[in-house]
Amino acid sequence: MKNWILFIVTAVVVFLLGMLASSVINRKSEAKFAYVPKVEISENEPRNEVWGKNFPKEYQSYIQTLDTTFQSYQGGSKMIDLLEEDPRLVILWAGYGFSKDYNQGRGHYYAVEDLQNTLRTGGPKGKGDGPMPSTCWTCKSPDVPRLMNEHGVDEFYKGKWADKGSEVVDPIGCADCHDSKDMSLQVTRPALIEAFEEMGKDINQATHQEMRSLVCAQCHVEYYFNKNIPGKEGIPYLVFPWKNGMSSDDMEKYYDDIEFSDWTHKLSKAPMLKAQHPGYEVYLTGVHADRGVSCADCHMPYKTEGGQKFTDHKIQSPLNNVANSCQVCHRQEANKLIENVYTRQKKSTESRLKLEDALVKAHIEAKKAWDLGATEVQMKDILTDIRHAQWRWDYAAASHGGSFHSPVEIGRVISSGLDAAAEARIKLSRLLAVRI
Ligand code: HEC
Ligand code: HEC
Ligand code: HEC
Ligand code: HEC
Repeated sequence: MKNWILFIVTAVVVFLLGMLASSVINRKSEAKFAYVPKVEISENEPRNEVWGKNFPKEYQSYIQTLDTTFQSYQGGSKMIDLLEEDPRLVILWAGYGFSKDYNQGRGHYYAVEDLQNTLRTGGPKGKGDGPMPSTCWTCKSPDVPRLMNEHGVDEFYKGKWADKGSEVVDPIGCADCHDSKDMSLQVTRPALIEAFEEMGKDINQATHQEMRSLVCAQCHVEYYFNKNIPGKEGIPYLVFPWKNGMSSDDMEKYYDDIEFSDWTHKLSKAPMLKAQHPGYEVYLTGVHADRGVSCADCHMPYKTEGGQKFTDHKIQSPLNNVANSCQVCHRQEANKLIENVYTRQKKSTESRLKLEDALVKAHIEAKKAWDLGATEVQMKDILTDIRHAQWRWDYAAASHGGSFHSPVEIGRVISSGLDAAAEARIKLSRLLAVRI
């Protein structure tokens, strides 16, 4: 009887082990065969779902950028109307498109849709007949490298963005970051390559680890449209203003030297700069960049599914996935790490809001001075101070994640902005004292 039981138990165990072994072998072959191409991907293929046939795991995780449920203290993927949250912004951007409509960024999958919906491009009726140039599409879609290859870069930047509406349909995806031949990372946007050349660097010399950030630096950077490039006059050519360096001071000097301004402020009449999103530039000044940690390390961590390790393409706030994003390197509890992020963000928000208040007052006081008959000569320096103060405020506010990526640098930029705003207001009070 005992032997029979032993026999049956052994038989069951052997059977189960067999099952396990065959499952392991299946998984292994699954892992191997996942990379045998099911479809041929052409050089300019913009459709993410076509790439997805060959790389289902990466595609499935990429599709999850559709998820809009996560919200953190300052980030996340929820659609938030930032103007409603902070009406002071309407004053700061008076006379410029951002004062009409400004929402928090969402996942990459929404890039084309969100640009079409924003009042900034669509005009108040949202019909997509706004004045923005087609250069605005550059950071939204893998149709961009396709169109650039097909028609040339200058041709792409020409014209109104509404004209390209039927051509730019696929949201940010595979062809933006990958070479279809071997899936290696590639830079598809000429502006980044040209910005490196301006600095006397060759982007082809970048290491693999640097490429894991440079693919993001194609879009998460400061930029402007230069309409005065010799030989390309009139074309709003996309340029990253990095010739003097990437700090707020370097880029401010760059814009001052060419007397560039995005718009004239409606109240103060200051020649204003709108910072875009100098995310990469700020990240470079932080301790993680210094230790060689890339954007992908935190925003695209490795993930394991069915025994297969792959890169999570659900690019999002890392706070929604601290285990994979941070705890690979840090041994602290998740709550502790989140708290570390929040304290940095809260402290920098505290001083950024002080700067915001000072700027609102400066714009209104400058208007008062104009109303009382101040002259252009009297106002010149004041307007330059306002321009500089708001540029620094915006550099800090718009570099999404900046107060975590590099809290010390953001602190420095805000305090230099407070300084410029105080200068403007002292000069204004002197001027107003004489006038009244
Ligand atoms: C050490 C990890 C780390 C690195 C490296 C890193 N980030 Fe972040 N990033 C974060 C954290 C943490 C936040 C804050 C998220 C939040 O507030 O929910 C963040 C926020 C962001 C945000 C705003 C996200 C949101 O939900 O609002 C963007 C965009 C971003 N990072 C892009 C980048 C880019 C581009 C790079 C590289 C140039 C980079 N990050 C490098 C950790 C990192
Ligand atoms: C082709 C341009 C482009 C590239 C390349 C790109 N991004 Fe983005 N990213 C965007 C745009 C545009 C948005 C805002 C989308 C929206 O709100 O509709 C965005 C949004 C984000 C967000 C906010 C998502 C959320 O859920 O809050 C994060 C985080 C982010 N990007 C990180 C990265 C990282 C990390 C890389 C590199 C691995 C990268 N991006 C590469 C253009 C780009
Ligand atoms: C914003 C840039 C970006 C986009 C968009 C993107 N990838 Fe990736 N992808 C990366 C990075 C970064 C890695 C890590 C590469 C490395 O370290 O060698 C990666 C790795 C991969 C790999 C190698 C295997 C792995 O998982 O590590 C595959 C395959 C891949 N991606 C497929 C895709 C597909 C399919 C799409 C479109 C649905 C896509 N990627 C979109 C940046 C991107
Ligand atoms: C690839 C490794 C790596 C990843 C991933 C990583 N870190 Fe770090 N982190 C470091 C290193 C290295 C330092 C520098 C300190 C040191 O050398 O010990 C650091 C420093 C820090 C600091 C102190 C720096 C400061 O700003 O004062 C904080 C806070 C921090 N990390 C939080 C995070 C969070 C939150 C995440 C996830 C979103 C994260 N880290 C992801 C490696 C990493």
